[in-house]
Amino acid sequence: MWIIFFILAAEIAVPALSVLDVMPKNGTELLLPTNSFQVNKDNRIAIARQAVFVTPQKIIPLQIRCVINCLQKTVANVEAIFKVEFSTMSLPTPKQTPTYKWKLFRKNTKQNILTLPEDNTKPDVKLSAGLLEEDVSYHLEVILDNLNGYDKSYAILDLKTNKAPENGSCTVDPMNGTAVNTFNVNCFDWQDPDGIWKYVIVFEVKENRFIIDETSK
Ligand SMILES: *[C@@H]1O[C@H](CO)[C@@H](O)[C@H](O)[C@H]1NC(C)=O
Ligand SMILES: *[C@@H]1O[C@H](CO)[C@@H](O)[C@H](O)[C@H]1NC(C)=O
Ligand SMILES: *[C@@H]1O[C@H](CO)[C@@H](O)[C@H](O)[C@H]1NC(C)=O
Repeated sequence: MWIIFFILAAEIAVPALSVLDVMPKNGTELLLPTNSFQVNKDNRIAIARQAVFVTPQKIIPLQIRCVINCLQKTVANVEAIFKVEFSTMSLPTPKQTPTYKWKLFRKNTKQNILTLPEDNTKPDVKLSAGLLEEDVSYHLEVILDNLNGYDKSYAILDLKTNKAPENGSCTVDPMNGTAVNTFNVNCFDWQDPDGIWKYVIVFEVKENRFIIDETSK
């Protein structure tokens, strides 16, 4: 039995816990929201207690693994692929076809970004380029269902997207020239909390792009 404490102050709405936030992992662990409730209004505080009974479940331990676009932070404008991985056991035999219900939320607002159809049987999910925004935290969830004799199994992954470097500029000298000129490119003042990895100098003719130099900082 688990006890969840809600501290309630008058006239302040407490964000609702979604079922998944408190879904226990086979009676062994209770997932609580990362931010605990700390609601203060002058000195009026009320405490409500709610007991939650957890029934042991027959689940399949799983986790979400990144397949493509797997830097510490996800690059927002590049496709990303994630896949379900079974941590300690493979799917039970006789082999059945489980369904994977994927959902992607913005972490703070819980705004739903993507929901795959419930009958989806593919163990991977593709987040197409441009679906994610820069510098945002997301929750990626998957629920494995439709396996006879098993309860729904659940995994969640926190994603944070990267942000482009900012505050800098670049100069080219000379501005005008011919094929025999040497052009000097200077980039300065670019800032990024994760550091600048490299500078890529690209030459563009109509729709075509040619990388002419790559330098690490
Ligand atoms: C979950 O708990 C039940 C009851 O204790 C147990 O029979 C089952 O094997 C457990 N499942 C997993 C995946 O740990
Ligand atoms: C570069 O050439 C163009 C076209 O001839 C001219 O208008 C411009 O002023 C030149 N810029 C510089 C920096 O010389
Ligand atoms: C860019 O400059 C602004 C204004 O000075 C600053 O608030 C911001 O943190 C800077 N960005 C980075 C990545 O350092």
